[in-house]
Amino acid sequence: MAIQFNFVSSMLILVLLSISSVEGQGGGGGGVIDVVAKFGAKADEKTDLSKPLLDAWKEACASTSPSKIVIPKGIYFLSTATLDGPCKAPIELQVQGTVKAPADPGAFKEPKWIAFNRIENFKLSGGGVFDGQGTTAYKREGCKGHDYCGSLPINLRFDFLTNAMIQDITTKDSKQFQANVLGCKNITFEHFTVSAPDESPNTDGIHIGRSDGVNVLNSEIKTGDDCVSIGDGSKNLVINGVTCGPGHGISIGSLGLFKNEEPVDGVTVKNCTMTNTSNGVRIKTWPGAEPGTCSNIHFEDITVTNVSSPIIIDQKYCPWNKCKINEESKVKLSNISFKNIHGTSARPEAVKIICSATLPCENVELADIEITHSGPTGPAVSQCSNVKPKVSGKQNPAACSAPIPAKPTPTA
Ligand SMILES: *[C@@H]1O[C@H](CO)[C@@H](O)[C@H](O)[C@H]1NC(C)=O
Ligand SMILES: *[C@@H]1O[C@H](CO)[C@@H](O)[C@H](O)[C@H]1NC(C)=O
Ligand SMILES: *[C@@H]1O[C@H](CO)[C@@H](O)[C@H](O)[C@H]1NC(C)=O
Ligand SMILES: *[C@@H]1O[C@H](CO)[C@@H](O)[C@H](O)[C@H]1NC(C)=O
Ligand SMILES: *[C@@H]1O[C@H](CO)[C@@H](O)[C@H](O)[C@H]1NC(C)=O
Repeated sequence: MAIQFNFVSSMLILVLLSISSVEGQGGGGGGVIDVVAKFGAKADEKTDLSKPLLDAWKEACASTSPSKIVIPKGIYFLSTATLDGPCKAPIELQVQGTVKAPADPGAFKEPKWIAFNRIENFKLSGGGVFDGQGTTAYKREGCKGHDYCGSLPINLRFDFLTNAMIQDITTKDSKQFQANVLGCKNITFEHFTVSAPDESPNTDGIHIGRSDGVNVLNSEIKTGDDCVSIGDGSKNLVINGVTCGPGHGISIGSLGLFKNEEPVDGVTVKNCTMTNTSNGVRIKTWPGAEPGTCSNIHFEDITVTNVSSPIIIDQKYCPWNKCKINEESKVKLSNISFKNIHGTSARPEAVKIICSATLPCENVELADIEITHSGPTGPAVSQCSNVKPKVSGKQNPAACSAPIPAKPTPTA
């Protein structure tokens, strides 16, 4: 019985093996590719995963039927990798393990650790962790200076992807932005977890620019900078069910610093929770400088807890004294709504809508705002400048009831 069984099962294995090798030769390929079993990757925290991963990618990307690369459970070391398309069929990278970056910021020649580039029908999944080991970078001298931080590696770059899904993935302690989305069409982040300490500089959770159709859903983002930041050329974005904090909140901009910025058009931020963040929902543009537009932006059903500036439009955004603060912003803001935003503010300025004197904000709506502040600095206030918002529902603090201070307070 046992002999017969073995014979039958080994015949089966032989048949299966020959099927898969025939497919491989024909360029059909596809199926599941395990980087450990097939390409000799080692989960020993020191052998570089780069070559096995790139070899697996090369095979999967050339396949004319859908394929999935698996990085099994375990801890891996990866120096750097850029996974390029276009690929011949849908492709998935399933990361079950933890992948660690070099701790030394000097180990990187380019500002990226892992990049996914020009791929259609891509999925990143598996419940795995990308650990940027950024602690060394946060402490390194001069990293608080803007220019130095700009050259540090971004954990995950998604460049020019079409129809992509990033699901059940964690990015941790990136040395710079945790994830960057550029030139993508139809990309969804779901159950995406970001984790970095409050004091990690320039570690935006997800930065989105020049992309159309980006969804960030049911995700948790704890980091030292913006939770989600939205740059020029972003269209049709939906952010729903995102929990932020610590960090700087959800931010559009800054806009108007560079030449030829594209419009931001159509952003909905809904059903989100912010705790201990420096801002809640924010739009920021630079005084003077370059023209631009930002319209059809809707913030709805937002809970804020201990947030320093829960609702803020700041058209006098000017950190590092990089602008002429007396000039007015040339970025036009229109069709912006804040609806059902409630909770507590860590500072009195709960609502602050400071628009440009030369291009006042148009069609701004405040509906059902209830934000309280308690403490020696007095109750919550609402300040407006160069804007006449349409007001409805509850308003606590009373909309636009407080005077504008002569000097704007600096913001991070
Ligand atoms: C968007 O991408 C997803 C894959 O993430 C795909 O299932 C869906 O069909 C795409 N939508 C459109 C309109 O192409
Ligand atoms: C609101 O967000 C939570 C996650 O924070 C999610 O579970 C829930 O489905 C969302 N609700 C709606 C109506 O989208
Ligand atoms: C907010 O900050 C307080 C005080 O530091 C802390 O106890 C609490 O856990 C923080 N909440 C979150 C969600 O980080
Ligand atoms: C509010 O958040 C700040 C950080 O922004 C934190 O230092 C403080 O402890 C928090 N307070 C409460 C009551 O959670
Ligand atoms: C603002 O909204 C109105 C009404 O929905 C629309 O007609 C107009 O085109 C929008 N403005 C911009 C700049 O998109």
